[in-house]
Amino acid sequence: MAMNGKGKAGETDDAVGNASISPNTTAPNTQIKYRDTLLFRLHEVQNRTRGKTWITKEELAGIAQDYGIPLAELDGIVSFYTMFSRERRGRHVIRLCDSLSCRICGSLDIYQHLRKKLGISRGMTTGDGVFSLEIVNCLGACSTSPNIMIDDHLISGLSLAEIDAMLDRLAKEGV
Ligand code: FES
Repeated sequence: MAMNGKGKAGETDDAVGNASISPNTTAPNTQIKYRDTLLFRLHEVQNRTRGKTWITKEELAGIAQDYGIPLAELDGIVSFYTMFSRERRGRHVIRLCDSLSCRICGSLDIYQHLRKKLGISRGMTTGDGVFSLEIVNCLGACSTSPNIMIDDHLISGLSLAEIDAMLDRLAKEGV
């Protein structure tokens, strides 16, 4: 514990003598904190316009410049997270969980059904640009498996007919 200013640099005492560490603005901490906002920014840019579900090269370059990080590094971050895409995707992104619980509870049946209904396989976008179909790892809702996400909405426990109805409604909505 630092007492009367005799402790290490950056330590201060409060009224009852408890030491605390004051923020060191010269440490890389500041940079790390700044980067905390990076994922939010990427989400915001990706979904800024209704119906746009990917990040363009120009947007990526702009973010890299704003954050002062190399474009290659940002590219690595974006490709690490499956929520982001640098490729053009459909207006609606369907993410089907195929991790253990969902697989046991029928994710494969849902996949086969979606493949047939939409005429596309994983990683593809329908010809009309309405839907992209992605296979993802656990969505964190195993107790309600099988799960899919459509855009930002987690969908659990729907029958194939109910999923169809939802997709039909989205397809009719337009942008
Ligand atoms: S396994 Fe699908 S949500 Fe966890």
